[in-house]
Amino acid sequence: MDRILIRGGNRLSGRLPISGAKNAALTLMPCALLTDEPVTLRNLPRLADVDGFGHLLNQLGASTSIEGTRPEDFGRVMTIRAGKLTSTEAPYDIVRKMRASILVLGPILARAGVATVSLPGGCAIGNRPIDLHLKALEAIGAEIEMAAGYVRASAPGGRLPGGRFSFPIVSVGATENVVMAAATARGTSVIENAAREPEIVDLCNCLVAMGAHIDGIGTERLEIEGVDRLHGATYAVMPDRIEAGSYACAAAITGGSLELVGVKAADMRATIDALVEAGVSVAETKDGIRVSADGRLRPLTLSTAPYPGFATDMQAQFMAMLCRADGASVLTETIFENRYMHVPELARMGADIQVRGRTAVVRGVDHMAGAQVMATDLRASMSLILAGLAAEGETQVSRVYHLDRGYERLEEKLQAVGADIERASDG
Ligand code: UD1
Repeated sequence: MDRILIRGGNRLSGRLPISGAKNAALTLMPCALLTDEPVTLRNLPRLADVDGFGHLLNQLGASTSIEGTRPEDFGRVMTIRAGKLTSTEAPYDIVRKMRASILVLGPILARAGVATVSLPGGCAIGNRPIDLHLKALEAIGAEIEMAAGYVRASAPGGRLPGGRFSFPIVSVGATENVVMAAATARGTSVIENAAREPEIVDLCNCLVAMGAHIDGIGTERLEIEGVDRLHGATYAVMPDRIEAGSYACAAAITGGSLELVGVKAADMRATIDALVEAGVSVAETKDGIRVSADGRLRPLTLSTAPYPGFATDMQAQFMAMLCRADGASVLTETIFENRYMHVPELARMGADIQVRGRTAVVRGVDHMAGAQVMATDLRASMSLILAGLAAEGETQVSRVYHLDRGYERLEEKLQAVGADIERASDG
């Protein structure tokens, strides 16, 4: 298994390219199941989760081909052709490795009139039920049965009628599933309290490029008038606002200055506002944003919330950064119930963090020391990398496969801006 070795203390400086967004890629890829014409996605990040999703599409009978990109380039162009689905089932051995596999449920159901998907596994950051995915699909006409760890959904008469659903709590994945399923319904669907994350906007824009009729894009009320068929399209995946935020924290924690190239600042306002409040300077440039820090960071009080609030996917990275702030910060996690698994690992590096329920009090410390630490989930892993960049001595992060799910060529990008970081393989 691979490990990442970091010798901390270098200030990072230079230009760092931001990849296509993992979470957008994972909802754009299943859109290709909705049409028998090819869908080409540009700026697709090279990530284990994207490869895994491609494999799942292959199992369903779609072909995936990668074109015109050299190994040294960031991002890829993938064409997905789902001329005919040869299977309507997403099996356990794939779904358990990647929770986002649940996002094929809506598209397969819309295309084939029936879909069977194993209950998911994935990131260990809480219970993560899929009840809202199922309720939303039921509301637009799906019939749902559960048996032997699988969900079986069917559309009476082979096509969903459409309908109305108001989400009791905001769910990104469930919004994505129902929007994809509603795109080719017989009638109109209205989704209230829909998630408004930029990745949902990206999904809607891609569906519109494929011929869907969607009103209210970017708002909490989506109205989707079903169309008889969708056609192929070419679409570029949006930049990864979470990757960008993570590297912004890397600039801040090392007292460095990074230009994050390709970022859309408007998609990450809450992150930028929090950085600025912590005393980090963030300026928009022609190509993205420049994030610079010198001197001690200020402590923050932050609570995670659905977009446009402060993203839960940024909580762990901010916690690492605030370990070096001048005073006590208070972080509250409102989205997932078990998202502090990085805390004991950060403590091994000298952090002073107390967790009570959903709130963590982070007291800034003068020094952190390198240690052997273990990654537990994707964003938690990044918080350990950040702490390692600022710590004295060597940090070894094991279970790097978590990072490979969501950060394209992490060590290469960080080396290029001055970090002393490498990957070691134990064979
Ligand atoms: C997506 C993101 C993930 C991010 C999260 C919140 C992807 C692939 N993943 O995850 O990186 O951290 O949004 O921004 O895009 N819930 C239910 N029932 C459901 C679905 C969700 O109770 O059927 C709850 C969850 O347990 C959680 C909350 O709703 O407490 C929000 O989860 P949701 O927005 O659905 O997260 P994901 O789509 O899984």
